[in-house]
Amino acid sequence: MSKILVTGGLGYIGSHTVVELHKSGHDIVIIDDLSNSSLKILDGINEIINFNINFIELDLKNFKQTKSFIKENIDIDGVIHFAASKAVGESVEDPLKYYTNNISSLLNLLNALKSLERKINFIFSSSATVYGKPEILPITENESIKVAESPYGNTKQIGEEILFDLVKSSPYFNVISLRYFNPIGAHNSALIGELPIGVPQNLVPFITQTAIGKREILTIFGNDYDTHDGTCLRDYIHVVDLANAHLKALSFLIKKKENNYFDTFNIGTGKASSVLELIKGFEESTGINLNYKIGDRRIGDVDQCFAEVSKANNVLNWKSNLTIEDALVSAWNWEKNINNEKF
Ligand code: WQD
Repeated sequence: MSKILVTGGLGYIGSHTVVELHKSGHDIVIIDDLSNSSLKILDGINEIINFNINFIELDLKNFKQTKSFIKENIDIDGVIHFAASKAVGESVEDPLKYYTNNISSLLNLLNALKSLERKINFIFSSSATVYGKPEILPITENESIKVAESPYGNTKQIGEEILFDLVKSSPYFNVISLRYFNPIGAHNSALIGELPIGVPQNLVPFITQTAIGKREILTIFGNDYDTHDGTCLRDYIHVVDLANAHLKALSFLIKKKENNYFDTFNIGTGKASSVLELIKGFEESTGINLNYKIGDRRIGDVDQCFAEVSKANNVLNWKSNLTIEDALVSAWNWEKNINNEKF
């Protein structure tokens, strides 16, 4: 049994990954600073797995505390690093917050781990945002990395570069960077899911909040794109499938004999869905009529973004299993639950 540190383990993707990791028999320690989560998510995890997971409230920006935490947990052999801020718009308004949260935390964590002089299998939470406007679709991992469109995107590019350089220089780190496409949905128990702060920027939380009456109307950002129905195409992936990609990546690294391994993998379904298709899918799978209108394009949106996933299929032996309908129904059940629980 390996001991796995999950940073940001009470966040949206982190919490689902913790549940899947526990199911597969790993010993887990979560750290989270609770800046974008709630202890109710910890309760949700514990209820799903019927076990009290080890949780430490810790801010990775504090190097002293990070170092002493790592010293007390010298038997860690895997790290899944989710802890980061993730709102694209906010990163444009407050870039220093993003560079501090996302880069200094990563550096503190790596410096503390390096001092252990012990083999560490490290999974980095990256994003399809590193590709910007893709030249070729579906997007492969060989797509060129362009100047980032936002400070948030830049922190993912820089994070990958830091890890790439570290791996070349140190025999102690093997790293996989997972580039997520559009994660949606929630655990089927409706006990954990995404907790958007304020007005959601992402499509699915906006859909569910409109359906429940928290928002009056959903605006579709443009229907004059060069796609079959004029709305943008994305690769929406169920968060539980995404969580399982981390398990596959981790077991791949655990089995790996060589050192100095770094690689990147797209994690998506390989299928493209339009905004209108997602709305129709929500209406059909929940029986709810959604109040929506067509509005202007949103600055920074690319018309199409979907993954070529054969590398993750073949190398990591991972593929997505759940459908968009599964994801939309679970997102709706989660919305109803958080509304009752008043998170
Ligand atoms: C999806 C589609 C919108 C809201 C973002 C980040 C990316 C990653 C995932 C972190 C687009 C349309 C949305 C609305 C709409 N995050 N839309 N009305 O922009 O593909 O990716 O989240 O890593 O980095 O950029 O996701 O959910 O915001 O939008 O019409 O109210 O829905 O225009 O076509 P996006 P999204």
